[in-house]
Amino acid sequence: MTKCIACIGAGYVGGPTMAMIAMKCPQYNVHVVDVNEARIAAWQTDDLPIYEPGLLDVVKAARGRNLFFSSEIDAAIREAEVVFVSVNTPTKSFGDGAGRAADLQFWEKVARQIVRVATSPKIVVEKSTLPVKTAQTMETILNAAGSRIRFEVISNPEFLAEGTAIQDLLIPDRVLIGSRETPEGIQARQAIVDIYANWVPAEKIVTSNIWSAELSKLVANAFLAQRISSINSISALCEKTEASVLEVARAVGMDSRIGPRFLSASVGFGGSCFRKDILNLVYICESYGLHEVARYWEGVLAMNEYQENRFVRAMIRYMFNTIVDKRIALFGFAFKAETSDTRQSPAIFVARKLLEERAQVVITDPKALENARRDLADATGSAQFTDDPYEAARGAHAIAVMTEWQLYRSLDWERIYASMEKPAFVFDGRNVLNHRELFGIGFNVFPIGSPPLKHF
Ligand code: UDX
Ligand code: UDX
Repeated sequence: MTKCIACIGAGYVGGPTMAMIAMKCPQYNVHVVDVNEARIAAWQTDDLPIYEPGLLDVVKAARGRNLFFSSEIDAAIREAEVVFVSVNTPTKSFGDGAGRAADLQFWEKVARQIVRVATSPKIVVEKSTLPVKTAQTMETILNAAGSRIRFEVISNPEFLAEGTAIQDLLIPDRVLIGSRETPEGIQARQAIVDIYANWVPAEKIVTSNIWSAELSKLVANAFLAQRISSINSISALCEKTEASVLEVARAVGMDSRIGPRFLSASVGFGGSCFRKDILNLVYICESYGLHEVARYWEGVLAMNEYQENRFVRAMIRYMFNTIVDKRIALFGFAFKAETSDTRQSPAIFVARKLLEERAQVVITDPKALENARRDLADATGSAQFTDDPYEAARGAHAIAVMTEWQLYRSLDWERIYASMEKPAFVFDGRNVLNHRELFGIGFNVFPIGSPPLKHF
């Protein structure tokens, strides 16, 4: 009999992960379900609800064959032997732990729904990033007195990064599967190993106890974010000296113990995970009385906020301490290139600050304009939006690069310069442009982490 997998939550994590499993494992039927019917409807078309390079091909390879999207959550749960849960777990915005702890209400609702509708034993897999020991709570709910059916909870955190999700799923650095170390737990873990073993080499499938798996996800994201905050802190120092953060990062990253990745100084990190997961880590440490550990990780977030603030302050200072009524073009709004996602994007912070200073902000982005509009719907002042970077720059005093879209490198910068107010400023929040060349054209150029190139 064909095995059935269900996935609750058809977002950035659930959608691509299940599409890959379905493509690689034709022997399983994969049902992806979500409470959001519009999202499900979009997954059934070629206009997918999220932009991710290569995703459509993977979806098309399996959709209708053994990959199905629907809103029939109860039916999907009932039929499945394995239920992945990848609903969102935002930072709590109310009550105890507000602004730090994870809001687990969706997860708990899903767990209760599984208990209510299940008629056979199931393996319930945590895909969402959760605080350590959530599995225990979930086990308690799932196996509460009265329920005759046995549920095993597995932690299988997702390490994919947006923009490279398909590659990350196809050739993962590792797949981590945590379980209880009981015979039933180990058996359930093996069932999940068997799914990934269809395309992931055995040595890359790591098993652990369930708490280690949950914690590893938070720690991996905290370490990645910490590298960015470290290099960003150095970018501030470089701007005061004759050093270039690009040269420092290259020299430091060539140390094989350090490695070259995640050392690009920027206007700040964004995305749905880093901030949330560090806040989570901090909250957990606090709750165990580990205040020094909590302070240490909080520093990573403080540095990120400092970097975003520093960027805007520098813009205002260099533009003669006032930006009232000045047209400023933001190039990029997504939190990184190759995605339409704007969650926690530094561009949101920068745009809001510029609007508060009464600048006229014009936003351009090849994929994220719809989200940008939503993010700024309640902002003071008026923001404009356009697909066309040339249009955004026309009549502007300044351009600020917010996202490292490669297309910004190959624009006709002579043409852009000619269309702008003078003196023309470029603030490169991602160090993607050719600064010397822009300076040669006439721009005043302000990179991250190296001294400004200015004509005055
Ligand atoms: C989410 C979490 O943000 C992250 O912490 C976790 O690691 C994986 O899941 P993502 O896939 O990016 O990441 O979230 P999102 O795109 O918001 O998708 C979650 C989906 O779950 C949404 O489509 C939402 O409609 C759905 N959902 C939420 C349900 O189907 N049921 C619910 O009760 C709540
Ligand atoms: C991250 C983790 O990488 C991934 O493993 C996890 O599953 C989810 O969280 P994601 O948020 O999609 O993935 O993107 P990532 O590539 O990690 O970038 C996060 C942010 O850091 C982006 O805003 C990016 O622009 C920024 N960044 C990244 C830098 O500023 N400098 C760098 O050197 C690298």
